Amino acid sequence: MIIAIDGPAGSGKSTVAKMLAKHLGINYLDTGAMYRALTWKALQQKLNLEDENALCRLMEQTNIRFQHEQKGLQVFVDDINVTKEIRSPSVTNHTHYISGKPRVRAIMVSLQRRIASEGDTIAEGRDMGTVVFPLAEKKFFLDAKIEERAKRRFHERGILHSENSLDDITKEIELRDQRDTTRKESPLKISEDSIYVDTTHLTINEVFHRILQEVEPLLKNK
Ligand code: DC
Repeated sequence: MIIAIDGPAGSGKSTVAKMLAKHLGINYLDTGAMYRALTWKALQQKLNLEDENALCRLMEQTNIRFQHEQKGLQVFVDDINVTKEIRSPSVTNHTHYISGKPRVRAIMVSLQRRIASEGDTIAEGRDMGTVVFPLAEKKFFLDAKIEERAKRRFHERGILHSENSLDDITKEIELRDQRDTTRKESPLKISEDSIYVDTTHLTINEVFHRILQEVEPLLKNK
């Protein structure tokens, strides 16, 4: 069983996907972390991020894997734990080079499908319902007004990156939205069969229960 959750940055999808996976005892696939992981390695190797051939070669030589630990899901690139590094502003700002390359995405998608074939999975990203898992049993599109999404990111980052003002974060999210929705390859869009959830005025718990209400009947029928 696949539950697909897509949506823009700050829509609450990661938090809710993790909560649901834990509650239901099924796997959680963070596909954004995979694009971030390859970006991290490409930056380490000082690759030309416009060189799609080089990025495809890099992807083929890279082992990206997840490991569940007490402190949360850990991301490994070739056995180096990069969980923290892939959230850095530098990686965040360069990921669009990787996620905009069709042939890199094709390799990423086959890896995502392979990981998901290991068991029931909640897959989270931008193209889960539209491209990667078109036959997912349930699809959700989480959204929220940009002001609210920026506020959430601001509070998350507040202590760590206090140099970012709310205004900076709003601009950064606007740019990411624009890149995610206008790129040629697998842009962020709502699939016809997905359930749209506007989380602007909802708490994380409310979003969690909204999704659970749709997913629980599936589990009972299994
Ligand atoms: O969800 P995130 O912020 O960790 O994602 C990082 C970047 O990766 C984001 O800017 C868009 C891209 N991405 C993508 O293109 N396709 C996905 N399925 C997941 C993320």
